[in-house]
Amino acid sequence: MKEEKKKQPVIFLKGKKVILRPLRKETDLEQTTRWINDPEVNVFLSMFLPITHQEESEFFDNLPKRKEDIIFAIDTRDGEFIGLMGIHRINWKDRTAITGAVLGEKKYWGKGYGTDAKMILLDYAFNTLNLRKICSSVIAFNKRSLQYNLHCGYKVEGVRRKQFFRKGKYWDEIELGIFKNEWLPYWKKYQKSK
Ligand SMILES: CC(C)(COP(=O)(O)OP(=O)(O)OC[C@H]1O[C@@H](n2cnc3c(N)ncnc32)[C@H](O)[C@@H]1OP(=O)(O)O)[C@@H](O)C(=O)NCCC(=O)NCCS
Repeated sequence: MKEEKKKQPVIFLKGKKVILRPLRKETDLEQTTRWINDPEVNVFLSMFLPITHQEESEFFDNLPKRKEDIIFAIDTRDGEFIGLMGIHRINWKDRTAITGAVLGEKKYWGKGYGTDAKMILLDYAFNTLNLRKICSSVIAFNKRSLQYNLHCGYKVEGVRRKQFFRKGKYWDEIELGIFKNEWLPYWKKYQKSK
């Protein structure tokens, strides 16, 4: 009997703890639908309505048309699908964009997976796409997200006061940004670390 060929993983960007790869509806739809409907996850995001499989399926179908967004699946190096990370609102004239991320598998929070994914995403954004500045923003209570952005070198650029309504009250939005030249020392240090 012929030995079955082992499936080779699709890898677009490789980090120390994660790989980033294109999304695949057939394998990823169930998990992303579960994640964005999880109130412990979506409290940090802009979604607040229930998302049906149908709607999520349309999101996957429309991905190739989204020319200003590049969205990746985050897999552990062992091949477990744990989240999403993207470069959004790419402006090719000003050479700016914003980044967004969600680790839907909560047991992976706070263990360095987000930082690893963000550093290889920034490498791609600055050194391949030739972007100049990347921005991000977090809701003030999202200390983990603020911390991991700062860890990657982002600087706080401002605060939008009482911008979001969550958990029964209004919260500030913290605006962050990073230029390539500010990020390079963080990247050098990161590459040297274990
Ligand atoms: C935000 C997110 C992508 C970060 O990824 P992560 O793998 O959890 O982050 P990391 O472990 O790489 O870094 C987290 C940092 O916050 C710190 N941290 C962890 N939990 C914390 C907490 N409860 N309060 C404050 N800091 C915390 C960690 O010590 C680490 O900082 P350090 O590297 O300086 O030690 C991930 O937690 C997530 O998806 N959360 C839910 C959705 C979300 O918030 N998305 C972002 C919306 S802006």
